[in-house]
This record gives sequence, structure tokens and C-alpha cells, in this order.
Amino acid sequence: MDRLGVVGCGLMGAGIAEVGAKGGCSVIAVDVSDEVVAAAKERMTKSLAKAEAAGKLAEPAETILGRITFTSDMSALADREIVIEAIRETIEDKSALMSKLDSIVAPDTIIASNTSSIPVAQIAAASSHPERVLGMHFFNPVPVMQLVEVIACLVTDPAQADKAAEFGATMLNKKVIRAADRAGFVVNALLVPYLLAAIRALETGVATKEDIDQGMVYGTGMPMGPLTLCDMIGLDTMLLVAQSLYNEYLDPAVAPPSLLRRHVEAGLYGRKSGRGFYDYSK
Ligand code: 3HC
Repeated sequence: MDRLGVVGCGLMGAGIAEVGAKGGCSVIAVDVSDEVVAAAKERMTKSLAKAEAAGKLAEPAETILGRITFTSDMSALADREIVIEAIRETIEDKSALMSKLDSIVAPDTIIASNTSSIPVAQIAAASSHPERVLGMHFFNPVPVMQLVEVIACLVTDPAQADKAAEFGATMLNKKVIRAADRAGFVVNALLVPYLLAAIRALETGVATKEDIDQGMVYGTGMPMGPLTLCDMIGLDTMLLVAQSLYNEYLDPAVAPPSLLRRHVEAGLYGRKSGRGFYDYSK
């Protein structure tokens, strides 16, 4: 498979399109918003320039970028062998997209959702060909993080899941792990309670944000502190992920803390909006 479609050109979608193009795929990247598309192009250009300067690219950045077509016309996906969606993390948005894709792509085109925490079965239920729907969960920043989780739900055709896993390993050059269809899969089910605990520590005055972050960086060797990581993931995404995990497990450890809700309500989404727990405006 080398004809990849990506729907949603935010942080994750742009990264997925970049790794697809780097792996040699022709990529059609779709987003409804021209603004998001322009930002995605800029982000990819910067990311590839950085990788090129570090000697990480086998081809010129321009050649890689040349494999990506950006459009707001969803029907451009008609000839794709695999479509990965990375749109907003709500079941309403993802279900609407599944039925739209049903009328555009071939019945055996793999549709992979980059859902962070919504069970794949819920998303597949909105497709008239649920057997080709599965999860491919990437990590931010996608061009740097090596992992993808592949999730087959109860109705996914195992052969399609195998094809998606092979595509992830060969064309996207990722380490692939398989996970069961439970909210959070492997990584977020372990990581998110830790991140939410850090927000609660800040909320209850255990320490300053700087000390919480430094504690985990210098005490445990994490590449970045948990509050910095929340800002990088996006606090709006963190809230949606926490809500999905809470819906699934009813575990207070994954209930969204008030401080997280307040940040999102105030439009403080983290690095992407210029301010989250930290200020990035400068
Ligand atoms: N293509 C290929 N390689 C690239 C690249 C690109 N576009 N851009 C950068 N790189 C390389 C760099 O050359 C560098 O390589 P080196 O280690 O060999 O020198 C490496 O990637 C790291 O890049 P940077 O130097 O730019 O970055 P830092 O060293 O400052 O590290 C970080 C930044 C990678 C973000 C690091 O702090 C980190 O690993 N943080 C944790 C991130 C994390 O946990 N992500 C998962 C979040 S959870 C998630 O996403 C799931 C979701 O569902 C919520």
C-alpha cells in the first residue's frame, strides 16, 4: 500500500502525513479549514527542515513535501488504499466522518482512526463496512515518536489489521504494538493517569508547576515534565481523552481535574494556543 489519505491536518494529522510521505507514500491530506491546512504545511516544512539539517532525511525535504497534496475536497480520497483520520476526538465527529468516507472510498479501503481513547468499536459502528475500520494510534510529535498502536475491534477483519500493522512498520517506519480495544489502549491507559495526577498536584498546591516538572525530569529521567507534556499534547485533547477514559472505567484517577477544565474553558490549550500551564507567547 502506498496511497495514503489523511483526514484532519492538526498536530497529529500533519505528522502522519509527513511520515507517510517520508516513507514514499503519495499522500492526500484533507481538512475542511484552509487555515488549518496552511498551518499544517508550515509545520511540516519546519519539521522537515529540522530533520534535514540533522541529517535525518534520505531525500531532500522538497521531494518529500512534493508527495503531499493538500485539499479541502474529501472526494480526492476516492483512490486511497488506506485512510487515517486524525480529526477531533469526539464520537459525533468521528461517526459522521465514517459515514461520509463510506460513500467515497472503496469498500476494502482500510480506515484507521488515530483515536486516543474512544473505543474503535464505537467508531466502526458508524461505518457500513465496519470490518475495514481499525485503530492506528500515533504519538506526538509523530515524526519523532517511534510507536504506533494498532487496534482491531471485535468486528475488524484480522487480515485488514495485519495489513495496517505491516503498513505502519514498513511505509511509516514505526514500531508497531497491538492493543485490545479498551479506551486508552496500552500507552494512554498508563500515561494519562500520571499526567492527570500531575495536574492535581498543581491544583492542590503540592508544588509549583516548575518543581513538579523538574521533579519528574531530574528524578526519573523523563524527557519532559508532565505539565510541559500536557501543554504539548494540548489541554483540549487531554480533557477529551480523560473524559473518554472516565466513561470507560469510572475510575476517579482519570476524572478530569477542575484545573484542566478551567484551562480549556478559558481557551488555554497549551503550546498550540500560546498558553497552557506555561506561557509560549514569546
Ligand atoms: N523527522 C525525523 N526526525 C526528527 C524530526 C523529523 N521531522 N524532527 C526532529 N527529529 C529528530 C531530531 O533530529 C532529534 O534526533 P536526535 O535525538 O538523534 O538528535 C530527535 O528527533 C529529537 O528532536 P529534537 O531535538 O527537536 O527534540 P528534543 O530533544 O528537544 O525532544 C521531544 C523533544 C522529542 C518532544 C522529547 O522531549 C520527548 O520525547 N518528549 C516526550 C514526548 C511524549 O511523551 N510524547 C507522547 C505524548 S502522548 C500522545 O501523543 C498520545 C496522545 O493520544 C495523547
